[in-house]
Amino acid sequence: MPSNTLSPPGPAAVLCGLAGWVPPRVVTNDELAARLDTDDTWIRTRTGIRSRHVAEPGQATSDLAVEAGRLALRSAGGAPADAVIVTTTTPDRPCPATAPVVATRLGLAGAAAFDVGAVCTGFVYGLATAAGLIAAGVARRVLLIGADTYSTIVDPLDRTNAIIFGDGAGAVVLRAGRPDEPGAVGHFDLGSDGTHEDLITVAAGGSRQRSTGGEPTHAERHFAMRGKEVYRHAVTRMAASARATLEQAGWKTDDVDHFVPHQANLRILHSVADDLGLPRERCVANVDAVGNTGAASIPLALADAAAGRRIRPGDRLLLTAFGGGLTWGSCLMTWPELPPHPHP
Ligand code: COA
Repeated sequence: MPSNTLSPPGPAAVLCGLAGWVPPRVVTNDELAARLDTDDTWIRTRTGIRSRHVAEPGQATSDLAVEAGRLALRSAGGAPADAVIVTTTTPDRPCPATAPVVATRLGLAGAAAFDVGAVCTGFVYGLATAAGLIAAGVARRVLLIGADTYSTIVDPLDRTNAIIFGDGAGAVVLRAGRPDEPGAVGHFDLGSDGTHEDLITVAAGGSRQRSTGGEPTHAERHFAMRGKEVYRHAVTRMAASARATLEQAGWKTDDVDHFVPHQANLRILHSVADDLGLPRERCVANVDAVGNTGAASIPLALADAAAGRRIRPGDRLLLTAFGGGLTWGSCLMTWPELPPHPHP
């Protein structure tokens, strides 16, 4: 009897390179308080953020992505990737995608290159996409970059959002390997709920606004968020997604050495950890120093924790994200041996 299986299960995606890059300019809470009606204590107690990095005028998302991508490729030993995925909410332009120019600037012209958009969940969606490309045999080595320059879409005079977001990029290289190897990513849980699309928006610049013909207002051109509702959804959706992933893998909460959530704000991260019954010390957080960097936040947190030797080979990680859309997602991995953190 011929087998009904058309092809054997494909290889797993195994993390083999990692790097983060943030623009050098640091903006402290005090600097924001000098131009906005806010103060350091309010920002720290509501969000856990002390400072964030901000791109220079003229610096676009691809510029940050190239820096992180170059370091990640170097960290993976320098071999070229045959696919490049950029996940971002702040592409250089509405058209074309940002990934092709990033690939070319990294010396990877000819590689498959495309963007993934899932707002702050982009990195976990990007990991699943990379894993799919590798499992399908479409790519053997994928460079996945999460990069965002929220400073280009947040109104600098909007005190609610200007305090939360920062600019940055984080990148990983994934190679084809075995599912039981350290570094293999798996047990994905991805989800969305478009009935809440209006909780996190940039109203203008897309076909919805352009189809009406009129010039967008100042507010429509900028990022808007219904903070309180987002907060509630973020906690419940992240906790549910994390649970679904753990269940899928047969892991107990106690099996998780490090919970690496999207760095939305510290109160959200701690609430999710509490909800899961995870000690807060197991929650990896660098939001105090970089703010919410959107699609870059998980790889930046991983890069910081790995560089500080907080995450060590063999540790078990739960990655969970939440973002506009609404979107959410989680996955699991065991930390691999990686070369020392590359410096620019
Ligand atoms: N400084 C001082 N006061 C501020 C302020 C700031 N930067 N921003 C808002 N306020 C004021 C509000 O105007 C309001 O004043 P009022 O009571 O006189 O109307 C008061 O503080 C409370 O505002 P509120 O929006 O209810 O605060 P909050 O406790 O919900 O905190 C957020 C606001 C945005 C920090 C919080 O809702 C949040 O963290 N949401 C989730 C955001 C997030 O992580 N998004 C990313 C998801 S991917």
